[in-house]
This record gives sequence, C-alpha cells and structure tokens, in this order.
Amino acid sequence: MTNLATSNAPIWEQIYAGGHVMNYPDDAFVRLFHRLIKPKLPDKSRVLDYGFGSGTTSLHMAKNGVFVEGVEISKTAVEVVSKRFSEQGLEGCFQVNKEAILPFEEATMDALVAWQVLTYNNLNSMREKVLDMQRVLKKGGVFLAALSMPGSALDLISEPINDGYGTKEIRHGVQAGAKICIPSEIELHDIFAGLNATVGSVRYDFESFEMAQNSFWIVSFTKVE
Ligand SMILES: C[S@@+](CC[C@H](N)C(=O)[O-])C[C@H]1O[C@@H](n2cnc3c(N)ncnc32)[C@H](O)[C@@H]1O
Repeated sequence: MTNLATSNAPIWEQIYAGGHVMNYPDDAFVRLFHRLIKPKLPDKSRVLDYGFGSGTTSLHMAKNGVFVEGVEISKTAVEVVSKRFSEQGLEGCFQVNKEAILPFEEATMDALVAWQVLTYNNLNSMREKVLDMQRVLKKGGVFLAALSMPGSALDLISEPINDGYGTKEIRHGVQAGAKICIPSEIELHDIFAGLNATVGSVRYDFESFEMAQNSFWIVSFTKVE
C-alpha cells in the first residue's frame, strides 16, 4: 500500500504548530452534512472525521449531537481539536494515525467525512484509502468527501512530478512540498468504482473579494453491503 502520510505529516505539523485555525466550516460542508448525513444517523452514532485539521467540521457535527471520532497525521491538530472541544464542553475522540489502514474495526462507523483530505494521496493510495474507509463504514453508513479539482487554487500552485501515479507537488505557500493528486472526473469514477458513488462539484469564485478562487469535487456514497 502506498502512503504519503509520513512525508506530508511534517508540513501539516508546522502549519498547526504555527497557530493555523479555521473558525468556521465550509458552507458546502454544512449544507451537505445536514442534508446527507444528519437525517440518517441513528441514536448514539459514531462519525469519523478523517483529517479533521483544526476541527471545524468536527465541532459543527458535535454541536449537532454527533459523537465525533477523528484521525489526523498531525499531533498538534489532535491537541488543537481536543482543546477546542473541551473549551466548548463537547466530547469527542481524536488520535494520530499515519498508517495506511484506519485503526478501526470493520463496520463500526455510521458516517465518514473526509473534507479536503483525500487530495493528499496519489491515484493509487487514494483508491486504497477509499476502500479502507468503506471497510469501516456500517451498512447504510454515509461517506462524504470534498477534494480539489483540476483548476482549483491548490492545483494552480502544484507541479506534476511524473511518477506515473498522478502525484503533484505543491510549490508555493504554507503547504509547499506536500504531495497531492488532483483527479479528473474520469479518474475519480475509477477511484470510486463499485461503490455507487455520486460525484458533484462546488466552485467558488471570490477573487474580486480578494479570496482565492476554489473548486472541488464532492463525492458521496452509502455503503450497501
Ligand atoms: C486542507 S486540510 C483540511 C482539514 C479539515 N478537514 C478541514 O476541512 O478544515 C487537510 C488535512 O488533512 C490531513 N491529512 C493529510 N493526509 C492525511 C492522512 N493520510 N490521514 C489523515 N489526515 C491527513 C492534514 O494533516 C490536514 O489537517
């Protein structure tokens, strides 16, 4: 199994150690969480926030009654989200995981969110990660991911490294040196083949407001077996 977690981890560690915190979740996440995930959650549900970063998605879900568990490659991110949860009187369970396999038994999660995280893979490892995520979902569990698409802000600051696996390296900004991949729609359908996934996209164009243009794929599926 390929795994870029070890090489990307020091970059994220530095970002969170430098105090990077997001104060509110992406509005597309909020809408999709309330529409696709929340109505399907049973009582005492477990939701995995994969790559929760500074924890804005985790906080939003916890404030809406969900018990959130999370894995991250950054130890500082775990500290940041744990502190934010305790300051707000919320309970969750967060841990570092740099292994290619998730540290959970098969069929244990009612939903899994991977918001802007699967990008930090190559085309091979992305497929492997998605299959492992499907493994930990319960039957009827919902998967929701956002990932950068061609032409997105991240794509525009990255260069291909021509390794045959679609890997690009970010060249500018705080994430410089991180290895990512930006799948085309066809590649995305291959990555999610057999999972009956729905693929959509969101595009924000706020450049005139001095915010970076951004666009990303939204992928969701419900585990059927
Ligand atoms: C763009 S940030 C998104 C953070 C968060 N999901 C959000 O939307 O605010 C990407 C995050 O993915 C994490 N990450 C990258 N590769 C990972 C992996 N293999 N396993 C878990 N987390 C990973 C990084 O540490 C970083 O916090």
